[in-house]
Amino acid sequence: MKNAVVCFLLFGASNTLVHSLDSFRAAVYEHNVTFPADRTKILPREEALQVMKNNLAVYAQQAKLASDMGARIIVFPEYGLYGLGWTRQTIAPYLEYVPDPITQKWNPCDEPALYNSTEVQHTLSCIAKHSSIYLVANMGARIPCMKSSSKCPVDHQYQYSANVVYGPNGDFLARYFKYNLYIKETHFDKPQKVDLTTFETPFGRFGTFSSLDIFYYDPAISLIEKMNITNIAFPTAWSDDLPLLSAIELHSAFAVTMASTFLAANLHLPATSYHGSGLYWPWDTSVCASYYYNDSLSSSGYLVVDTLKGCAPSPDRITRMSRGSTSKVKYDRPNNRDTFEATINGDRYTAISLTTSYGASNVCQHDLCCNLEYEGEFAPGELFALGAFDGFHTKGEKYYLQACVFIKCANISKESCGVSTKESLSSISKMSFFGNFSSKYVLPEILTNQNGVPGLEPQMWSYGGALIIDVGLNGGPISISLLSIDYLRNIEGLEHRTLNIRTPYDAYGLTVPTS
Ligand SMILES: *[C@@H]1O[C@H](CO)[C@@H](O)[C@H](O)[C@H]1NC(C)=O
Ligand SMILES: *[C@@H]1O[C@H](CO)[C@@H](O)[C@H](O)[C@H]1NC(C)=O
Ligand SMILES: *[C@@H]1O[C@H](CO)[C@@H](O)[C@H](O)[C@H]1NC(C)=O
Ligand SMILES: *[C@@H]1O[C@H](CO)[C@@H](O)[C@H](O)[C@H]1NC(C)=O
Ligand SMILES: *[C@@H]1O[C@H](CO)[C@@H](O)[C@H](O)[C@H]1NC(C)=O
Ligand SMILES: *[C@@H]1O[C@H](CO)[C@@H](O)[C@H](O)[C@H]1NC(C)=O
Repeated sequence: MKNAVVCFLLFGASNTLVHSLDSFRAAVYEHNVTFPADRTKILPREEALQVMKNNLAVYAQQAKLASDMGARIIVFPEYGLYGLGWTRQTIAPYLEYVPDPITQKWNPCDEPALYNSTEVQHTLSCIAKHSSIYLVANMGARIPCMKSSSKCPVDHQYQYSANVVYGPNGDFLARYFKYNLYIKETHFDKPQKVDLTTFETPFGRFGTFSSLDIFYYDPAISLIEKMNITNIAFPTAWSDDLPLLSAIELHSAFAVTMASTFLAANLHLPATSYHGSGLYWPWDTSVCASYYYNDSLSSSGYLVVDTLKGCAPSPDRITRMSRGSTSKVKYDRPNNRDTFEATINGDRYTAISLTTSYGASNVCQHDLCCNLEYEGEFAPGELFALGAFDGFHTKGEKYYLQACVFIKCANISKESCGVSTKESLSSISKMSFFGNFSSKYVLPEILTNQNGVPGLEPQMWSYGGALIIDVGLNGGPISISLLSIDYLRNIEGLEHRTLNIRTPYDAYGLTVPTS
């Protein structure tokens, strides 16, 4: 074992993203959706409509509030009008015919009679108009099809999960049919081709998609890479899955990696882990965020409103920086090189436990090696682990994942590394963390315990090939991770791999892991 000498770089040394961000004020509403009394019955349209009207009444209040607070766009969650847990038959009365706004101009608030049974669309359009705000919501759509068409379902209609967008005068601007359905969403059909749905506003061009789409190239990455979209409206029904897949972690990471604003509105059902909404936008090599994350069973829906412009480093960071930072620190490699298997979000990681408050360590699985150097203070009785994963993530949905993770174990035993925990009394003052990922898409995530509640650390770190923490974190680390989704390899049957152009080793002058 040799001692590794590490140079921590200052924030300024990392590469800087180009900002073409127009500053604007935006809102997302985390909604405690009202369900029908009995979801197992097929309701008459009138009763289904009443359920949706109850939820729409909340949307109307919140849109007004958001507009009064200066927001120019508001996003509402997926499943926000009728809740979760459907069959193809029980959801049918909630669906409406949603025309194509490109071929048919329509202002539902002004022209309610143009299509039959489109009350939800009239109401959404009128909410946008009355509050003079861009509005993005999710609803159920039905598109009739010909019996003769071989793909047409037996009930002669396609049933889609639709994001609908209205302008501040009530105009119907855009329609998106969800492409990547969750395994249990058998009540909806997958569209035969993917919609790359965009809409223009005076404060920028937006794209919209929802939930699981975030893990796949189409439409999420296509919108960004092929359509030059830098703003995303994201209605979601996201069940929090710690340690790595909580809503606020993954959604904020997407914003920084894709250099795009990300407006994520979730359901508020903390009893079943659906919660975590926010506005996230990239800044320098880190992220700015304004979010709501409250899993208390007595907490309610919440409106997040903020202006998306540069975020100043927290005052805490400035005082800490003024103490000056150590540029050279000496580390001992931990003696224990025994790896073990840790299951994290259903994936089997190769892991090594970290027991000392500072150190340098690495761990590899298949083609991926993760290299960690850190300095901090581990609270008595708290265990951490470094893990590497290279393979298909298969819990819930399938996507190709490479991940390097630094996680707080739930208790002092190795078996608990990967078990969800929200507690951490330890601290991290410095870290350099990278992996030799095969894909260029690397999502940096940090979740810490902030006075008992998990939260993000906006602007307290940077990512430019390696994740660098130089001035400490505010909260106790729960997980610090780099998730790399190989979107190109996710395409079925295609084992295409893109290699990272720049190796993090070269960029940071760090020791290449010997494994
Ligand atoms: C959420 O809404 C339901 C009614 O649908 C209500 O019973 C419950 O109290 C609400 N929860 C909170 C925390 O507001
Ligand atoms: C609307 O419903 C009425 C009565 O059911 C029907 O006569 C009419 O054709 C429908 N119009 C459209 C556009 O579907
Ligand atoms: C995206 O930007 C590139 C480079 O500026 C340009 O060549 C391309 O036409 C743009 N594509 C769209 C769809 O706007
Ligand atoms: C969460 O909600 C509870 C109940 O309303 C409230 O007491 C608490 O302050 C909230 N916490 C946060 C972090 O918003
Ligand atoms: C990552 O590094 C390990 C160890 O040096 C090596 O075996 C592996 O091939 C590398 N992976 C890639 C994608 O370069
Ligand atoms: C630690 O957590 C694991 C996994 O949740 C559990 O099986 C074990 O009993 C716990 N051990 C202690 C000492 O609390």
